[in-house]
Amino acid sequence: MKRSIIIDTDPGQDDALAILLALAASEVLDVRGIVAVAGNVPLTLTQLNARRLCDLAGRNDVPVYGGCSRPMMRDLITAENVHGRTGLDGYHWPEIKTPLQDRHGVDYLIETLLAADEGAITLATLGPLTNLAMALVKSPDCARGIGEIVMMGGGFFTGGNTTPAAEFNILVDPHAAHVVFTSGLPLTLMPLDVTHKALATPPRIARIAALGNEAGKACAKLLSFFNRHDVEKYGSEGAPLHDPCVIAYLLKPELFRGKDVYVEIETSSSLTLGMTVMDWWGVTGKAPNCTVMNQIDADGYFDLLSDHLARLP
Ligand code: BDR
Ligand code: CA
Repeated sequence: MKRSIIIDTDPGQDDALAILLALAASEVLDVRGIVAVAGNVPLTLTQLNARRLCDLAGRNDVPVYGGCSRPMMRDLITAENVHGRTGLDGYHWPEIKTPLQDRHGVDYLIETLLAADEGAITLATLGPLTNLAMALVKSPDCARGIGEIVMMGGGFFTGGNTTPAAEFNILVDPHAAHVVFTSGLPLTLMPLDVTHKALATPPRIARIAALGNEAGKACAKLLSFFNRHDVEKYGSEGAPLHDPCVIAYLLKPELFRGKDVYVEIETSSSLTLGMTVMDWWGVTGKAPNCTVMNQIDADGYFDLLSDHLARLP
């Protein structure tokens, strides 16, 4: 049986590859809907970008919703310095065909989760957790429809990428992250500790460029754009390819290794706001609330990605 997933996202070049990977795996993943959130760029752009990716995958049938335009409490922080003005700079996008659904993304989440069998839906979150937290706050009962939440966010041993302590997705909306991490729902986290071991190096990008389809060409261009910022920032061979880790885990969990730990989100300190504080060594005695990944078979990850992108138009 296919796994039903909802993708919550702020595309973003790495979100783009994650969405395309999920849509390419249609024999095992049923992408029920995509909900956009403000993050890498404002919501007006992330909802457009989510629709562009459905077009590129030849999947105009996937419903795309607009969610929250700002975090629960803080002002929105965006990342045009990384992703470009549109969020998906690097590729010349044709006119959009996939429509934007009328319903608000948070209401879509609530209604879909309430109507689902218990634990039937997996949530794949690739951006700030605002939509999911708002759904859990507005309708606590909707939690019963969620089987698992797999998220990209946070970092512990790697430190932060937006402040010394905080990773972008969690820093944008730490209060939403707090709601999700205290929800008691099954959580799996792909933090920077794992994504910084999954680098989009030039040979890996060249392999995607050579797939011979439009999706491969587009992904290679997006990744080349994405690389320019991170290669300089980290002095690495390529940018960490964060968000597709979430989908790769759903397709092939054996690519990843991690540990069940207790994770708490810092919501008040001005110095470490948005930090994912992980009790890696069990020093608090608190019960683990999250499976945190810290190892990846990076070659296997890029094999999975290339093999799936090759199936797209
Ligand atoms: C995360 O922040 C965004 O810029 C990326 O899309 C990814 O979700 C990495 O910190
Ligand atoms: Ca993202």
